[in-house]
Amino acid sequence: MAGVRFDPVGPLRGAITPPPDKSISHRAALFGAMSDVPVTIHNYLIADDTLSTLDALRSLGAGVDQQAEGLVIRGVGLHQAIEATGGSLYVGNAGTLLRLLPGWLAGQGRGFWTLDGDQSIQRRPVDRIVEPLRAMGARIEARDDRLTPLTVHGSQLHGAEHVLPVASAQVKSCLLIAGMLADGETTITEPSRSRDHTERILRRARVPFERFGATVKVREVDELELEDLTVPGDPSSAAFLIAAACVVPSSRLLVEGVGLNWTRTGFLRIAARMGAVIVGELEEPPQTEAEVPESEPIGDLDVAAAALEGTVVEPEEIPLAIDELPLVALLGACAEGETIVRGAEELRWKESDRIAGVVEGLAGLGVDIEATDDGFAVRGGTIRGGVIDSRGDHRLAMLGAIAGLASSEGVVVEGMDAATVSYPSFAEDLATLVA
Ligand code: S3P
Repeated sequence: MAGVRFDPVGPLRGAITPPPDKSISHRAALFGAMSDVPVTIHNYLIADDTLSTLDALRSLGAGVDQQAEGLVIRGVGLHQAIEATGGSLYVGNAGTLLRLLPGWLAGQGRGFWTLDGDQSIQRRPVDRIVEPLRAMGARIEARDDRLTPLTVHGSQLHGAEHVLPVASAQVKSCLLIAGMLADGETTITEPSRSRDHTERILRRARVPFERFGATVKVREVDELELEDLTVPGDPSSAAFLIAAACVVPSSRLLVEGVGLNWTRTGFLRIAARMGAVIVGELEEPPQTEAEVPESEPIGDLDVAAAALEGTVVEPEEIPLAIDELPLVALLGACAEGETIVRGAEELRWKESDRIAGVVEGLAGLGVDIEATDDGFAVRGGTIRGGVIDSRGDHRLAMLGAIAGLASSEGVVVEGMDAATVSYPSFAEDLATLVA
């Protein structure tokens, strides 16, 4: 496919509703499939990643029907319920599906399934779920013990205490799901908090579950009590439009119906610290270490362009802004002074090596940026423009597009079609704001 060109523009103006949240859509479908009664999902994301989840769940025996009130999932139940007790499951580009689904499969007590995906999936590590699942009694094989294809055999699981080396919502969620099927108690401790969508669904589904700070504990449960789930607009997709409004002078943008869960709004806090004007009712972290809300907060954000200054993003902020760090680099490129991101080694294991992709990609557009061992450092100036390769990574494709709007000569994005993984209408939505 030929490259897609994004030219410098005048101010962004108008209102936009971002696409439904990808993380929550994956979870909603999966929990729907684990339920005994039909679950209606309002505002499910229709994009490549979340369609892969629906395909996998259909292969496992769940019914999926788009109805007027929402996407209805007719689940099979939690335990030993999956009809197809063998076969291949193709996860496409979906890392969340790859990491969460094995938690359910491993506790089925019978059957085996082999998971594999596209080229990007084949370089993404799965040892982070394989090792802790094995500690619970799971039988799993993986290429070189750390990569796909991944074969999961159903077994009786036992509760275990896990201390994760890296904060990861995917790993935590996988183990929480396995913990619902395991005898005894399963606890998971992360080095710092990561997104908590799975915990909120567990609360809602009346699963015996507790939190204390960065530790969560779950006990075996027979069935889920879920009827419906509502998916907010995706703050990670919205972040591209918000970043555009921050870096294109005189922009003013209203983002409507976006998820404001505090474990997802780290980028907004970083951008505000850099001088961005972002007004909205962001959720505050809970008052007590034990509190877990049942629902996802949804609201609007009013964003206006303003002068930006460099900042240092510290390791504890990383999990709460992990998917938006490429945009911190872009804001840094348009800010006064230096912006440094530390403790972000995990970026190397995303849909692409995002440290290399961001640094080489933006440097190719004339940005003064360099990679560090655990992130990057960028000095503000002008973005000249040129050509950027998405490397098949949806977030790098959209980064290139926004860089083009803020550049002096325009940017051609090679592999723009990657955006369909999370935000199929990205280019159209952007066009409505720059018209
Ligand atoms: C996700 C968690 C994050 C994030 C990914 C989606 C999730 O990954 O980068 O895009 O839905 O749980 P990690 O858990 O690997 O940090």
